Amino acid sequence: MKALPIVRGLLSYVPGFERWRSRGTGGSDSARYCYAVWMRHLVKAAESGLDTSPRTVAELGPGDSLGLGLAALLSGARRFVALDVIEHAATETNLRVLAELERLFAQRSPIPDDREFPEIGPDLDSYEFPHHLLSDERLAQSLEERRVAQIRDSTARPQRGESMIRYVAGWSDRAILEEASVDMLCSQAVLEHVQDLSGVYRAIARWLRPGGFASHQIDLRSHGLSADWNGHWAISRPVWRLIVGRRRYLLNRAPCSVHLDHIRGSGLIPRSGVRQHRVSAVRRRQLAAPYRGISDEDLETSGLFVQAQRPVDQ
Ligand SMILES: C[S@@+](CC[C@H](N)C(=O)[O-])C[C@H]1O[C@@H](n2cnc3c(N)ncnc32)[C@H](O)[C@@H]1O
Repeated sequence: MKALPIVRGLLSYVPGFERWRSRGTGGSDSARYCYAVWMRHLVKAAESGLDTSPRTVAELGPGDSLGLGLAALLSGARRFVALDVIEHAATETNLRVLAELERLFAQRSPIPDDREFPEIGPDLDSYEFPHHLLSDERLAQSLEERRVAQIRDSTARPQRGESMIRYVAGWSDRAILEEASVDMLCSQAVLEHVQDLSGVYRAIARWLRPGGFASHQIDLRSHGLSADWNGHWAISRPVWRLIVGRRRYLLNRAPCSVHLDHIRGSGLIPRSGVRQHRVSAVRRRQLAAPYRGISDEDLETSGLFVQAQRPVDQ
């Protein structure tokens, strides 16, 4: 058991500490990272037979920039909505990322692979630029000069009525988005942090239009809170409470099958699900009480990529 996470949890009770400590969320302040993530969700959607020309794209937990959504807009989406619990993404960063994304699309750059970003899932069979999805004809329209200027303007002034972008930081109510208004909702390394998993999965299902789909990469590892990749399932409830402290979000510790159950329970139909496996670093007898009944498969699942669709007739 590491001591530092407990110290951090205790420090979170000190007024102002969390804001002061904030050091970014992962990688989305890099355009190449956002490009790599967007392309993975898009390529996988094609493999699952899902719509790869979504009009309205939403993202849960964009983190340090709105780059995934900007990549979606440059690919032809008309509208992007980002929901986070904290405002991590600054306009200046978004504009820089947009300029770099424009270059990546213009050059039809290959998708950054697992050597450049070993932490980004899911793996793809090919990292070539996906010409079959983003044809020259499609990109001639989506990257047309006036359209890109509109995306730039929307990025600079997302609060304007005609902006193609809506960024809500501090959302908590599912009424924040209209029912059946989203074609594709992505999240990358977010759902392992969400506290109200049932409420959020139900909200996602409600926001999707019939036939629309959600695309999630979920990192089920301990995020450095324990020495072992799955040591967080061996931490007792009282100690976990100390580690969490008053942080705005940390980990919900839900194993893979809990996410899959929530997805099915929300009425969505999983179209593809790839479990990322890793040998368990903890023995079954070391597990904390709430995790003793975990299946062998869950115990060895370190990540999940899943795409799930709202039935067309709903
Ligand atoms: C590890 S970061 C990932 C950021 C980004 N998606 C990336 O790939 O770098 C987790 C993000 O989830 C957000 N988050 C946590 N709980 C959330 C919730 N209930 N709804 C939306 N976002 C949430 C955090 O504020 C943060 O932006």
